[in-house]
Amino acid sequence: MIGIFDSGSGGLTVLHAIREVLPSADVVYFGDIKNAPYGGKSHEELSKLTVHSLKLLRKRGATNLVSACNSVSASLALSIFDAFDIAPTQMIEMVGPTASYFRGSDARILLCATVATIASGIYQNAFDMLDLQIQTVAIPALAGAIEFGKSPDELRTIIAEAFAPVDFSGVDVLVLGCTHYPLALEIFKEVVPSTIDIFDPALAVAERVEKKFWPQESGMGTTTFLISKESAPFRAFVERLFPNMHYTLEVVE
Ligand code: DGL
Repeated sequence: MIGIFDSGSGGLTVLHAIREVLPSADVVYFGDIKNAPYGGKSHEELSKLTVHSLKLLRKRGATNLVSACNSVSASLALSIFDAFDIAPTQMIEMVGPTASYFRGSDARILLCATVATIASGIYQNAFDMLDLQIQTVAIPALAGAIEFGKSPDELRTIIAEAFAPVDFSGVDVLVLGCTHYPLALEIFKEVVPSTIDIFDPALAVAERVEKKFWPQESGMGTTTFLISKESAPFRAFVERLFPNMHYTLEVVE
């Protein structure tokens, strides 16, 4: 069984891409809405929350794991793998597959993400190792605004304000470095010049999931959602992204 976790609804965009390539995998998804948003939290707080998610998913039977949250990628240290006896091949996170997707490219990349992701330097380091330069923009309030169902106008204002100082003439690709952001893709398209390609890392992650977890993860295609707090926006996102899917949903501690 594949265990996927995020602070809330963002990881649903990753699950959506995974379902396209592995429709028969059994999935347990944890959205930690009680502690959302993650993007303003410290490294220490994020490490604790990551451990909590891993424990919960393992308890529910997940053997292969997908961290569908960029903000915790820096918390996925080797010590965590050791402590939980997880082989690195059993865990996929967002940054590695994204950087690897751009290997050899000469695209001028702008990464937008949460404050925690940008401050961790994890994307900058990964791209640096591949001799690629990226510019970064943090959008502090956006993931929380999406998670808690703010209106499209409010989301547009937050995105437009974050991009106001950006000179897009030196940019070819905008990477959505927070899994919540594709849930507002249409608004990004309105704000960003139409010459810019918008890249959703979920595609690169799903490709990696297929490569690493298939055919081991062929099951009945069941989906279990666990959320740490009741949330109408989460339920609405599930219905929007998976209109015909059968699933169960539980509120857990
Ligand atoms: N969706 C997560 C990410 O990719 C977390 C966003 C948040 O909760 O602030 O970073």
